[in-house]
Amino acid sequence: MPSEVRREREGSPLNPHVTKVVIPVGGLGTRFLPATKAIPKEIFPLIDKPVIQYVVEEAASVGLTDILMVTGRNKRPLEDHFDHNIEIEEALARKGDAAHLDQVCESSDLVTLHYVRQGAPKGLGHALLCAESHVGNEPFAVLLGDDLIDPRDPLLARMIAVQERFGGSVVALMEVDPRDIHLYGCAAVAPTDEADVVRVTGLVEKPGPDEAPSTCAVIGRFVLHPGIFDVIRGTGPGHGGEIQLTDALDDLSRSRAAPVHGVLFSGRRYDTGDRADYVRTIVRLACERDDLGPDFRAWLAAFVSHDFQETR
Ligand code: UTP
Repeated sequence: MPSEVRREREGSPLNPHVTKVVIPVGGLGTRFLPATKAIPKEIFPLIDKPVIQYVVEEAASVGLTDILMVTGRNKRPLEDHFDHNIEIEEALARKGDAAHLDQVCESSDLVTLHYVRQGAPKGLGHALLCAESHVGNEPFAVLLGDDLIDPRDPLLARMIAVQERFGGSVVALMEVDPRDIHLYGCAAVAPTDEADVVRVTGLVEKPGPDEAPSTCAVIGRFVLHPGIFDVIRGTGPGHGGEIQLTDALDDLSRSRAAPVHGVLFSGRRYDTGDRADYVRTIVRLACERDDLGPDFRAWLAAFVSHDFQETR
């Protein structure tokens, strides 16, 4: 655990520490059909590592190793990925392929994973309710299983520190083009004494052009007060007929006892559940890798400059 995170946590004994993470992966992934008919989008490869492993590594990087995945139908490959595959491990050991053996075992040894099934994908709020008995009465982190935050732009550690200072819940916010705000949960905000922290005074899920209170979009990282569970229980179906976490947070944002704050994030973030963003993520990762980057960058430059024609 980075020392600044540990310090922040040790500094506020009255406020229980965040120790648990919930990763909801029970959605249908309709934007990626038909690919997601039998395979969850969270297992899609970003070259040679699935999206979900990046998300789990992000939690582990701030010392959060107790992780509950809220799964659903067709999500078995996610469990398999984090389990040992004895056949592959034995074959690699026999061949003396230590490098691949290490990579294969890495995902199984990273964290302690628990699973609960959502039953039916009734929305993100509903998915979180399935985590209640595991989480108990402590603040907890939620990392959406298809949202990738670049490890060079740490967000989760900052959100935990903000939760420990202000209490309540913390959401991650990103400034987006006004034309895109209808794709997100949108927050009405007020400044605080910290430049990158705002008080959230209201939230609307996927607002129409005249309804958006700002261009602050909610992205897939949350540190939530356990009071959210009771609020979700009282939240009816919202946008798209789903039980929306945004609606429950909107209710909480009016509470004095458990306020909602936002951390303004301006780093690199990819929604890998969106086809175009998925492609961008792979291109960026390929360009940046030591093994693939030099050849791939040269090919990409030639491909683009030749008007996409006849580049091999
Ligand atoms: P998304 O809205 O991005 O996922 O939810 P989705 O509903 O699967 O995607 P589309 O819009 O149909 O393409 C963000 C995260 O919350 C999970 C998803 O699996 C994803 O990781 N989720 C969503 C659940 O676990 N349960 C749900 O009922 C809905």
